[in-house]
Amino acid sequence: MAVRYGDESHEVWHGDALQVLNKIEDGSCGLIFIDPPYNIGKNFNGYQDKWPSDEAYIEWCEEWLALCVDKLTSNGSLYVMASTQSMPFLDLRLRRHVSILSRIVWHYDSSGVQARSYFGSLWEPILHCVKNDRDYVFNADAIKVAARTGAERKLIDYRKSVPAVYSAEKVPGNVWYFPRVRYRMAEYEDHPSQKPEALLERIIRASSNEGDTVLDPFAGTFTCSAVAQRLGRRSIGVEQDEDYVGVGLRRLGLAAELNGKVLRPLQKTHAVRNGRGAKPPQDTLALDD
Ligand SMILES: C[S@@+](CC[C@H](N)C(=O)[O-])C[C@H]1O[C@@H](n2cnc3c(N)ncnc32)[C@H](O)[C@@H]1O
Repeated sequence: MAVRYGDESHEVWHGDALQVLNKIEDGSCGLIFIDPPYNIGKNFNGYQDKWPSDEAYIEWCEEWLALCVDKLTSNGSLYVMASTQSMPFLDLRLRRHVSILSRIVWHYDSSGVQARSYFGSLWEPILHCVKNDRDYVFNADAIKVAARTGAERKLIDYRKSVPAVYSAEKVPGNVWYFPRVRYRMAEYEDHPSQKPEALLERIIRASSNEGDTVLDPFAGTFTCSAVAQRLGRRSIGVEQDEDYVGVGLRRLGLAAELNGKVLRPLQKTHAVRNGRGAKPPQDTLALDD
């Protein structure tokens, strides 16, 4: 049975995504960010992310995808992450329900030993979809990045009717560089696939407005909800693991304990050793193409 925590603006659900999605009002979410288990055998606190077959996994994905589309407002946006292997199948299925505006590559650096006998994977795909491709939220000015090449060199764009210097800012392209969340970053939680706040910040700023409801049906450490809260949006996060629900309640400042367990921030070994807090991230700025 699913249990709801939180307040009027921020809901933290402990339960199965399909079960909770069925409780959410249709047409009520302006933005949905979906970062499901990838069917690659990760261990989420004891839960093994592996389906008996690719077909079984895709069928399961189809169930929550259809429900999520129902939850979107008429001008709502959906961002879906998946493994590189599964994304082509999800892409085909999603086209039946929504318009896919961008196929984004989230690229990151290597944080460990890389493959030596093939080209190691340093990116994950993200689909940016909308319910109505003639009416959707896209706050271009809120996510602009420095346009380094032309503007820095003070080049003149002679293609314009009145030649002018290149713009110093631009909307990012579809290849995004954000470092993965590493142990020494302040935002790090004990989870095998926590997404960077900077990645969520770009998505939430671009595709929602203040007061909109942002839904994350596979919340993990509730990064999406925490960033939504910081940016003045409402949030609904769903997670099946109790420990991760505790992380979410703590990150959102919604509870100090859960089922008798005090919700303390992660004690990091280097912080304990040198007596200082975790160092802030060194490289969380988005560097775009
Ligand atoms: C890829 S992680 C999400 C990480 C998250 N975006 C973050 O930044 O921390 C997927 C999460 O889905 C949870 N999960 C797996 N199956 C679920 C289900 N049926 N319902 C709800 N949560 C589920 C896992 O426990 C895991 O924490």
